[in-house]
Amino acid sequence: MAFTYFFRDQAVLDLIAQHVLPDLVTRLYINVWDAGCAHGPEPYSLAITFRENMGHFLFRNVRIYATDIDESGQFGAAIARGLYTYREVGRVPADLLGRYFEPADESGYVRVCAEIRGAVRFQQHDLLTLQPVRTDLGLIVCKNVLLHFTPEQRVAVLRMFHAALMPGGYLVTEQTQKLPSEIEPLFRRVSGAGQLFQKNANVL
Ligand SMILES: C[S@@+](CC[C@H](N)C(=O)[O-])C[C@H]1O[C@@H](n2cnc3c(N)ncnc32)[C@H](O)[C@@H]1O
Repeated sequence: MAFTYFFRDQAVLDLIAQHVLPDLVTRLYINVWDAGCAHGPEPYSLAITFRENMGHFLFRNVRIYATDIDESGQFGAAIARGLYTYREVGRVPADLLGRYFEPADESGYVRVCAEIRGAVRFQQHDLLTLQPVRTDLGLIVCKNVLLHFTPEQRVAVLRMFHAALMPGGYLVTEQTQKLPSEIEPLFRRVSGAGQLFQKNANVL
């Protein structure tokens, strides 16, 4: 199973809440792509962060496309149903655990609540096909994935992300990766403290 866990990068979730959400809530629909999402904790953490910062009615317009190449076949029914062990949710803040998870029928498991599950759509997808899941995206999150690619693959995937974002859309990548020099003109860095970028709409 790929290494990941709930609320793995609280600093990035805070950046999204502070800089991205206030901008995206002015749109009718909020489409997010979590590319390389592993078995679900990251997109569910994103969904919980969105829900914490908006009301029930606005949240109904949030759609998170959660994709992974899924080489190890982790996208089974349990992922889509939002079942996790108590150990896996160990880092979820207690108040959020109470609000967004419920004890599952299966002993030792909790389940992500229906409202949050309803916002996340899992799909098997290979980034190296360079085909976006959709266009007009408000936010793309691709963390701890690009480091597995060659420099040329990284540039091609980032160009694809740029094309798939709506004007002024946002991109989050891993802290360890600088944007390649060919890609830098396509984005402006929103925050010096993290890897949050905004699409420069005037560059093709
Ligand atoms: C270390 S995990 C990162 C999970 C999550 N983004 C996080 O940061 O916690 C890397 C994920 O990238 C996925 N991955 C690797 N190559 C991929 C590709 N070509 N297309 C889509 N996903 C890929 C792996 O299957 C794995 O689930």
